[in-house]
Amino acid sequence: MNSNRRSWLKQIGLGVAGLTISRLETIASPAILSANEFIDDKPIRLSSNENPYGPSPMARKAMADHLLESNRYGSAQMNELIAALAQKHNLSSENILMGAGSTEILDIVARCAALKGGSFVIPVPTFAFWANMIEKTGFKKITVPLTADKKIDLPAMLAAIQNDTKLVYICNPNNPTGTMLEREQLVEFVKKVAEKALVLVDEAYIDFTEQPSLSNLVAENKNIIIAKTFSKIYGMAGARVGYALAHKDTIEQISQVTTWANGSSSVVSVAAAIASLKDEKFVKETYSKIHEARKYTIAQMEKLNIRCIPSNTNFIYFTLADYKKDYFDLLKRNNIWGTYIYEEQGKWSRITVGKMEEMQQFIKAIS
Ligand SMILES: Cc1ncc(COP(=O)(O)O)c(C=O)c1O
Repeated sequence: MNSNRRSWLKQIGLGVAGLTISRLETIASPAILSANEFIDDKPIRLSSNENPYGPSPMARKAMADHLLESNRYGSAQMNELIAALAQKHNLSSENILMGAGSTEILDIVARCAALKGGSFVIPVPTFAFWANMIEKTGFKKITVPLTADKKIDLPAMLAAIQNDTKLVYICNPNNPTGTMLEREQLVEFVKKVAEKALVLVDEAYIDFTEQPSLSNLVAENKNIIIAKTFSKIYGMAGARVGYALAHKDTIEQISQVTTWANGSSSVVSVAAAIASLKDEKFVKETYSKIHEARKYTIAQMEKLNIRCIPSNTNFIYFTLADYKKDYFDLLKRNNIWGTYIYEEQGKWSRITVGKMEEMQQFIKAIS
């Protein structure tokens, strides 16, 4: 077998001819599987804010246990996951819409808000793939720059709202800057915006902070939608599970722009998500390892004259303005993925916080 094919087989891990129960047990066993086991000549992947430790041991076992149920639609598992999430957020099942990652949720909310045209307000830079998509339908984008310390400028966002504005997007903590808004200010802002338009709060990274979710606001307010994901702290980016929390009428309304509400994730992914919610040990360990590696990385980068914005997430935003080497070339030559360019023609970039040993290699590469 040539090495490309072998490495491809190793990467996919599942679904190959000859998959045996003992192989499944290997995959499910955290003691045997290392996160890198299937990948030869692997790059260091610091580009997409993934969790290098996941899926959690309990999630891996659930995936293996449910693989052979993939011939059936997974409504029963999905209902179980929705019930578990309702309990977690102290809401009811009617307050939840599931998607294939929170990307699908952002798309659905944007599509729904854009149905009657008008505009939406979004900070720059932020997580904006969905915005690029919806703009093409004629929904007008109104952008609002960040403050000098790279935070979302709430007064400016409020001032940017027009009579025809249907949607305002806030990512808290913000991607790519890693900055977080004060909760009290955010609550005040969200309530004010909700008098005029839908406000979508993306909490993809809030689990890396101590700040509570805004989920407590949705049952009382039809114009507030929270987007959440299993891709980050739960380490399930490739499994594609995310969800919206909103008033039950809002969930019903946004569900109209999707053909099969709650039908996008596989039975294997849903089973893993249910198990992930129970694996508190994994979440705590991820949290503390990421915090430790982040602290190390920022301290080392500052020594290299790379000024970093204080981060509340599993990534770091920094300026290359005073760094004299060719940062992007060094990454490329060291097989490190992380080339994201933002603001001031590439003076700002973002790097994901991986494992400590990955961050040590990253620092070595740019030193
Ligand atoms: C802020 C933010 N929201 C949403 C997503 C989408 O994540 P997913 O579709 O994997 O849930 C990402 C992915 O990186 C993100 O950074």
